[in-house]
Amino acid sequence: MYKIVKKEVLNPTVTRMEIDAPLVAKKAQPGQFIILRVDAEGERIPLTVADYDREKGTVTIIFQIVGATTEKLNHLEEGECLQDFVGPLGTPSHTDGLHKVAVIGGGVGCAIAYPIAKKLHQQGAEVHSVVGFRNTDLVILQEEFEAVSDKLVIMTDDGSSGRKGLVTDALKELIESGEQYDEVIAIGPLVMMKFVAALTKGYGIKTVVSMNPIMIDGTGMCGGCRLTVGGETKFACVDGPDFDGHLVDFDEAIERSSMYRDFEKQAREETCN
Ligand code: FES
Repeated sequence: MYKIVKKEVLNPTVTRMEIDAPLVAKKAQPGQFIILRVDAEGERIPLTVADYDREKGTVTIIFQIVGATTEKLNHLEEGECLQDFVGPLGTPSHTDGLHKVAVIGGGVGCAIAYPIAKKLHQQGAEVHSVVGFRNTDLVILQEEFEAVSDKLVIMTDDGSSGRKGLVTDALKELIESGEQYDEVIAIGPLVMMKFVAALTKGYGIKTVVSMNPIMIDGTGMCGGCRLTVGGETKFACVDGPDFDGHLVDFDEAIERSSMYRDFEKQAREETCN
């Protein structure tokens, strides 16, 4: 069993938990994920490692309450335990040799973008972070990003925090002002990553996206997480989750991501009632 040692509400729909999982903490790296089950009957859900403390033996996860399982997870308190916490899974994000990077985070995707920005910063790279949210109430990890970014731009849809507009607006301005990036790393909603990749393609800037499709076994066996990348079938759990954003078939991924939406909505309503 894996104990919740700390729980923190980051905004009305996003929660951070620190989990006692020494074996996962020992090997975890930015970009990797874990699969957890809340209880013995629970479904398995993938969550990206948001941080880890090898000395304390803890792994931090940040999740948005979107369905029945995240609703149940959010009901657990400090001191309670998770049934399973398996990982680290997936390939770590590639950060070696990068000198100047734009890290783009959207919504809860910032939880995945942050450890990558932190690692790049620790390696001495110049990090420009652009993070986007619907409004000021949903802003998360601002202080954390400030601490690891040479430049931080916050964008909100309604202008209630930072600047009004989309992350692509800010990224375009940075590129057009002469900033030259070795790479752009974008993590957030599929539609955001699609448009970041479309923008950077025009400028010929390598762009990496982190894909988080439906996952079941997390070992490449079930096919649940399949994607088309450069015309080939890939499995996000073993081949990713990071992929070349210019090669991902985002339209297919968006269609597949909505397959279980009605079922998920009903399951969440039943959990809440
Ligand atoms: Fe089953 Fe990736 S989760 S193949």
